[in-house]
Amino acid sequence: MRTLFHSCRVVTPRDAGRPLSGKDQGSVLAIEDAALLVEDGRLLAVGPRAEVASLPEAAGAVQEDLGGACVVPGFVDPHTHMCFAARREEEFSMRLAGKTYLEILDQGGGILSSVKAVRSASDDELFAVTRQNAMNALSSGTTTVEVKSGYGLDTETELRMLRCIKRLRENTPLDVVSTFMGAHAIPMEYKERSHEFVDLIINEMLPAVAGADLAVFCDIFCETGVFSVEESRKILTAARAKGFKLKIHADEVNDLGGAALAGEVTAVSAEHLLAAGDKGLESMAASGTIAVLLPGTAYSLRKPYARARHMVDLNVPVALATDCNPGSCFCESMPFVMGLAVLCMGMSPEEALTGCTLNAAYAIGMEKSVGSLEKGKNADFLVLDGKTPATVPYHAGGRSVARVYKRGVLVARDGVLQ
Ligand code: NIG
Ligand code: FE
Repeated sequence: MRTLFHSCRVVTPRDAGRPLSGKDQGSVLAIEDAALLVEDGRLLAVGPRAEVASLPEAAGAVQEDLGGACVVPGFVDPHTHMCFAARREEEFSMRLAGKTYLEILDQGGGILSSVKAVRSASDDELFAVTRQNAMNALSSGTTTVEVKSGYGLDTETELRMLRCIKRLRENTPLDVVSTFMGAHAIPMEYKERSHEFVDLIINEMLPAVAGADLAVFCDIFCETGVFSVEESRKILTAARAKGFKLKIHADEVNDLGGAALAGEVTAVSAEHLLAAGDKGLESMAASGTIAVLLPGTAYSLRKPYARARHMVDLNVPVALATDCNPGSCFCESMPFVMGLAVLCMGMSPEEALTGCTLNAAYAIGMEKSVGSLEKGKNADFLVLDGKTPATVPYHAGGRSVARVYKRGVLVARDGVLQ
């Protein structure tokens, strides 16, 4: 079936075969009085209505009037930990009372409390929470999502998490990309023996995950008291040899040199970067490593935001993500993240739009099919409640995403799943 969506203003980054950086990050294409011609979930054409409607393929297409609204690509959320079994509200209160995130982790809480919950949950319990998180994201405009393991920290539970993420891909409208993150924390049973846990990841987990073809990426939490730069280098090098693409949680709390390591091991992205210094950022610019920024985490941890403006100016391609997890940032909303990027990190609405769509798609290897509204890509698009992408930060906390289309099908309207 063919559908012609018309009477809209399309605003989209243009895919030139690489993530957008520097001045290109904010130079999006705006098409007035536009139309999108969709067949079987794919974009056959996007352009001025007069041109698209006169294509031979448009003859006989079902007409859908979008009422003059702004249309942007579906959001791509390239960094989440939304596969978990239980929330951690009590920990939020501890943080409000003054405990730090790393103190809570060091005392066996934080990520380790999520590990306990996942290990004791059934597959169906784990899937129910994960699915709910994903559907909440979908209702606010996320049409493609990356999900990490990392609350198992033993081989069997890591595999269970990755199977749960696969089930999410097969049972929801979302496109889902899996990341193996066995190096998310040192489990209790390996406390003071982190080198043995590193060996377990390299010798047992990576081969098992690769053998079952359950993840595209391998990620690691490179941080004080978690994995050192040397351990991170060792694990990531082993992962690369097994065929994984690489990501790093880098310089989230302390400037350990994770950003520079990302450049060195040719990671696709370095993520967080709240504390990243100039040296690390310059090495990312030189290697073309994408900075995945998670301003919701800075907001939730009440930390200074990552220097997004500086990164764009340095020519580092910037992508944006929620980090959706039960601890440092429980948030599924890309509109909220886009608002923080504009109002708290100094990005323009257009730069932030590229960060939430095309650059995010590159950060998870999905650029061939999503991230921009162009011929041949999926018809994943959002109808906004205003005339420009600025309506998202402007209509703070409101329903700036009026309608969500996944592969040409309406999946949410005014936040309600269809
Ligand atoms: O990206 N930093 C490590 N991992 C997550 C938090 C996970 C958790 O607290 O459960 C993050 O912030
Ligand atoms: Fe994270």
